[in-house]
Amino acid sequence: MPRPRDNQPHLPEPNRPEPRARRVTERLTVEHDVVVLKFGSSILAHEGTIADAVHEVYREVRSGRRVVVVCSAMGNTTDDLAKRAGEITDKPHPAAYAALLAVGESHSAAQVALAIDAAGMPAILLDPAQIDLRTHGDPVNAEPVSMDASPIKREIEAGNVVVLPGFAGRDERGFTTLLGRGGSDLTALFVAHHCGATRCRLVKDVDGWYDADPKSAGARKYAHLSYADAIASPAQIVQSKCVEYACKHAMVIEVGALGSVAPSVVGEGESTLVAPHATPRPVRVAMLGLGTVGGGVMRHMLSAPDRYDIRRVLVRDPSKYADKLEDASILCQDADAVFADDPELVVELIGGTSLAGDLLERALDRGCSVVTANKALMARDGVRLRALADTRGAKLLDSAAVGGSVPMLEAVRRLAAHREIVSLAGVLNGTTNFILDQMARDSRYDEALAEAQRLGFAEADPTADVGGFDAAQKLCLLCRVAWDPALPEDSVEVTGIESLAQNAPDVDRGHVRRLVARASRNGDGAVLARVALEPVPEGSELARAHDEQNVLIVQLGDGRREVVKGRGAGRWPTAEAVFADTEQVVRALQPRLAPAQ
Ligand code: HSE
Repeated sequence: MPRPRDNQPHLPEPNRPEPRARRVTERLTVEHDVVVLKFGSSILAHEGTIADAVHEVYREVRSGRRVVVVCSAMGNTTDDLAKRAGEITDKPHPAAYAALLAVGESHSAAQVALAIDAAGMPAILLDPAQIDLRTHGDPVNAEPVSMDASPIKREIEAGNVVVLPGFAGRDERGFTTLLGRGGSDLTALFVAHHCGATRCRLVKDVDGWYDADPKSAGARKYAHLSYADAIASPAQIVQSKCVEYACKHAMVIEVGALGSVAPSVVGEGESTLVAPHATPRPVRVAMLGLGTVGGGVMRHMLSAPDRYDIRRVLVRDPSKYADKLEDASILCQDADAVFADDPELVVELIGGTSLAGDLLERALDRGCSVVTANKALMARDGVRLRALADTRGAKLLDSAAVGGSVPMLEAVRRLAAHREIVSLAGVLNGTTNFILDQMARDSRYDEALAEAQRLGFAEADPTADVGGFDAAQKLCLLCRVAWDPALPEDSVEVTGIESLAQNAPDVDRGHVRRLVARASRNGDGAVLARVALEPVPEGSELARAHDEQNVLIVQLGDGRREVVKGRGAGRWPTAEAVFADTEQVVRALQPRLAPAQ
């Protein structure tokens, strides 16, 4: 055990949260946990790695947390910019030098914000000036002294992921300053403290803080690391002034890799070491379908060969995809071939119910886990398939079946575990919502539908979208999680939007048209559910779901409401949700942390 030491570094006295900060903490954490995720330059190594950061954000979002992302500059950008300043002058003015280097963080944060939004999560980029992050002291190694957390609080309370560039602030006179090498970590902690975040995780390219070079034999990982040991540690994973700040404010810092299930925790108390994780092993995967969503999921999996060994991809016409894959031999047409390599995970994205149903049943029967986005199949056979999965000890995950990347099933599951759910109301179909918005802008019904198909929102056969059945199937899945796990699919009354093709009467002033899914229970506990066109007031949550966006409002028995929203259809949002499910399966199949001997 590394403690006690004779040469204990001087640590600041813990300074428990001052009354104002405590008030903020209480107000924010009553409803939602807030987590600050900081992505370093090794994680944002280049544009191609931004998707990994987005997956990490989504992992937190679907767990019901509100997320603030702090970004470092990408790769070597900071060094390159410092070099550039040196090429211009050997005596740079500190404010201009700081402003030039801060460009690296602004550039990466803007790209991360765009990528989070493209994956379907509402994201807002804030500038250090908007949060008035003020610093004191050396302009290139400054101390943060104050900030205005209200813009961040406003955005996270509205359900948005907030993205901030790290490293930079402003001095008393408004000049740009820098927080020193590794300063984005300090930005993350400072922001976490002022937002009342329950967690602050510094995402690194190693999964934790080690007692030696993590690549060296016998290196052990700290499960817990005291502030004093962190400051004394030769591995300066986190700058000392950042650890001192955490100590002063009695905050814990998590240090871990992307997807970490056991980050090192820096905080009060004795340090403890554990044996590191065994290297993850790739899981044998069979994919069913390589269409709009399948192609997106495939791209995510191919970028993680340490976790995914894609053995087979079942498609109707292999010749269509042969030149799109490095190894076309994995393509197959024969359903039996799917099981030839004993897959541990089947990812079903072919849609339809007969072949998909048959293959999922075979997979689950063999104890193979399944991830599917197939709401039609889950609404029809989900009760039976779940029972089979439970009997065989397999996982059956269908998060992407409802709401694209809007974590609706997760939210309802989480709420139903602890609270009474009184009603559900939402916009659950992106295609029809897109058509309704386009028609409100004077497009014709058939033009709007064709555009929704072109953009990849609609099902292969859009009858289920426009007929309201897609939304009804999703509502059925939500009701099963909220109230009745065995609810039959035909319990939902359905009308669609097809009548608008012939006749689209005006809506009342101050209202817009939405295909609304609603459910509640009657006095006997029976579920009443329906999908129908409704005029809804402009400015309401339902009206504010635009184009392919979806929203779900969960009314709770204690009078509170939970609202989840984002992009409900399209390749990348849906692929994000599918990939989050596959990651969950992969994590479950990895060996667990073993304590050090
Ligand atoms: N066709 C569906 C929609 C796709 O438009 O919402 C996502 O389930």
